[in-house]
Amino acid sequence: MSTSNINFSFGLWTTGWSGQDQFGSASRAHRNPADDVRKLAELGAWGFTFHDDDVVPFGSDDATRTRLLGEIKDAAAETGMTIEMVTTNLFSHPVFKDGGVTSNDRSVRRFALRKVLRNIDLTAELGAERYGMWGGSEGTEYDRAKDLNAALDRYREGVDTVAAYIKEKGYDIKIALEPKPNEPRGDIFLPTIGHALGFIAELEPGDIVGLNPETGHEQMAGLNYTHGLAQALWSEKLFHIDLNGQRSIKFDQDLVFGHGDLTSAFFTVDLVENGFPASPDAPRYTGPRHFDYKPSRTEAVEGVWDSAVANMQMYKMLAAKSDAYRADPEVQEAMKVAGLFELAQPTMAAGETFADLFADKSSFEEYDPEIAANRDYGFVRLNQLALKHLIG
Ligand code: GCO
Ligand code: MN
Ligand code: MN
Repeated sequence: MSTSNINFSFGLWTTGWSGQDQFGSASRAHRNPADDVRKLAELGAWGFTFHDDDVVPFGSDDATRTRLLGEIKDAAAETGMTIEMVTTNLFSHPVFKDGGVTSNDRSVRRFALRKVLRNIDLTAELGAERYGMWGGSEGTEYDRAKDLNAALDRYREGVDTVAAYIKEKGYDIKIALEPKPNEPRGDIFLPTIGHALGFIAELEPGDIVGLNPETGHEQMAGLNYTHGLAQALWSEKLFHIDLNGQRSIKFDQDLVFGHGDLTSAFFTVDLVENGFPASPDAPRYTGPRHFDYKPSRTEAVEGVWDSAVANMQMYKMLAAKSDAYRADPEVQEAMKVAGLFELAQPTMAAGETFADLFADKSSFEEYDPEIAANRDYGFVRLNQLALKHLIG
């Protein structure tokens, strides 16, 4: 796979991040997002995503909204950049301090719903195939601040209503829920890929609702992002990805992709670019390779662009290493010894009945557990081969 034709996209809120944090003000001046679209195109990006408020400040009048959206459409048209996902900011303005679709205040929930539905129309108008829903403010700091049954009812109502609107309007849009365990809320609803998959299963009907898992969010919960992507793929619910870096369990660092757990990043790229080694027919992620990161507060504008390039460079370097790893005959052999292809073989034979299974004395009565107990799977050797490709 040549790395030249990878579709990289960026959230405009990433390079547009002004560097403010919980303890300090912005370290960079605000820039016009349309200019960032042009710069990202120049650097080799294929597309971009944005929140309504990233382009049109909260509370802007219609004339301003039309003008600013016009500027971003022009920038996309001029550069050929694809607007691949749109999302709604339901977290910055204090009105959303207790959430958007799960705020205890019903007037806030209705306001949030209208803000989202206006953005769904915009998503369709711009031809974006995806609508992102990161429920950053949907959660609590205190367990009894909400009736959690009602909160999940409202969350389901919110997502179902957005999905129903998309269908009623006949829009070809998929909804991608983005799990995160905490921050800004003490505990955010749908904290991990697992919780979100369980939630989607309860939606009515949930067919156009899937996931946008983020690297650092699973790792903030101490989970394995590549395993999470694998289960989302297995459930055919991997609609988008937010790639970045995170260095273990702490606040959301949103580092450059690969600048956190590099080994994990390698296996993430290996899965996304080259699929499941023993399951050629398994679902594959075909969407854009999207970065959701924040240029560190320490960087000036030059550093912002260096960081944007770094994301794409990291991904391309890892993709090339994954190709070499997969093509390495020593790796193929080590995978065989490890039993990767054996695992792809069903445990029951085709058409095997329980009577057949019970009749097979080698499966139990005559089975010698010591043989398998002494098997050398060679996982360490297989991993060492991967690491040699990674850092060799
Ligand atoms: C975060 C989230 C956000 C969302 C964005 C799009 O931790 O802040 O990752 O960056 O991805 O709001 O939904
Ligand atoms: Mn994040
Ligand atoms: Mn994200």
